[in-house]
Amino acid sequence: MDGLKTNIMWGGRFSRSPSELMERFNASVDYDQRLAEHDIRASMAHASMLADTEIISMSDAEALLDGLQTVLTEVRNGSFNWKISLEDVHMNIENRLRELIGPVAGRLHTARSRNDQVATDFRLYIRDTIDQFDHMLAELQFAFARKAEMHYDLIMPGFTHLQPAQPITFGHHLMAYVEMLARDRGRFLDAKQRLNECPLGAAALAGTSFPINRDKTSLALGFSRPTANSLDSVSDRDFVLETLSVATICSTHLSRFAEEMVIWTTPQFGFLNLSDAWTTGSSIMPQKRNPDAAELVRAKVGRIAGAFQSLILVMKALPLAYSKDMQEDKEVTFDALDNFATSLGAMVGMVDNMEPVPERMISAAGCGFSTATDLADWLVKELKLPFRDAHNITGQIIVLAESRGCDIKDLSLPELRDIAPCIPENIFSVLSVENSVNSKTSYGGTAPHHVREMAQNWIARLENRT
Ligand code: ARG
Repeated sequence: MDGLKTNIMWGGRFSRSPSELMERFNASVDYDQRLAEHDIRASMAHASMLADTEIISMSDAEALLDGLQTVLTEVRNGSFNWKISLEDVHMNIENRLRELIGPVAGRLHTARSRNDQVATDFRLYIRDTIDQFDHMLAELQFAFARKAEMHYDLIMPGFTHLQPAQPITFGHHLMAYVEMLARDRGRFLDAKQRLNECPLGAAALAGTSFPINRDKTSLALGFSRPTANSLDSVSDRDFVLETLSVATICSTHLSRFAEEMVIWTTPQFGFLNLSDAWTTGSSIMPQKRNPDAAELVRAKVGRIAGAFQSLILVMKALPLAYSKDMQEDKEVTFDALDNFATSLGAMVGMVDNMEPVPERMISAAGCGFSTATDLADWLVKELKLPFRDAHNITGQIIVLAESRGCDIKDLSLPELRDIAPCIPENIFSVLSVENSVNSKTSYGGTAPHHVREMAQNWIARLENRT
């Protein structure tokens, strides 16, 4: 049959082969061969179920399973010969099975369609990928938490509007990312739970008249249950969209730290050093050390969010059930998720590798009147002033310091008392950055002992994960 010009899978209805452009345009095998192992696993579950329900004989099922095992070996050792004329991963595998075991291969497609096949394969792929991401995200959290524990009391400026706002600790800043990544992991796991239903057995769109057992295939493939509506099973890709949207959100988190690395490694800031392993030089400017890896992580959001955008536009307004449009789901998704995984890996490497420059961070922490809020708070507590009055007095003190070109602590007590006669002598103690961070003992605040405790709790949780 292979010698026929028409397609082996539907040759009965067709009298000529497709045009060369149509063949290339229609084919997805160049990229969907990545689903081969999932496809074979699902076919094995399907073949066993067909024998179990006596839809095919036990000996036919054994021949199918043996043949599929051989195909799996060929796929794994790279000897499988993918053919564009066989369009996609499903037809390539079925065709190879026929070459290996003969016409009995034709029984495998009983009570199924490529529509439920591809939906099943893609769910399996996304499920595995989410597991891989969860592992990598935990590793990244661990890298952040370990650095945070090391630098729980290293004082640096905290920013709002990228202007110095209040002193914080480097550890506190890093722990912010541990929390973001925890939510990202939660979102991935939610998506995984929702996608974990088995579409196999929905067939083309309507279900099947064969007495299949969908619970059995669902269980064999590790799904929680079979999907409940055959049309929905083959026509939705919300599980891909959801995963891409979580990857997009998470990659924005990565991009924010990447951006901070870019800024902090400039000589102007000088807060952070990244070693040769994560930077590049310039072919013309010998002094340069460029944070390329951080820049790439920052940029990858474009691709990942782009994949979401691409697929949402494919899916929008598609009438039920399957349409070939949906084949466009895979290439962008593979690309986006591959790049997301690489970004995560690079981020783990950079976070492990980065070294803060304490003297730069500490000296910058006191700049820009960063303890002005502490002064206002202190006036409230010490003199029982309303906060607005304390804010106003502090504002006048800053105006005076600015006009002198000095810091608040360089003003004399008489000068301060000209502004507010009630100012006590011990005012200067409140102005230090150490006092500032130590005083932020509210839950979730930057007080170093809190930061250390949070980091240690997270480290213990992450070390104990299974
Ligand atoms: N390669 C196809 C895809 O990824 C498989 C499903 C084809 N189904 C069909 N009715 N043509 O969407």
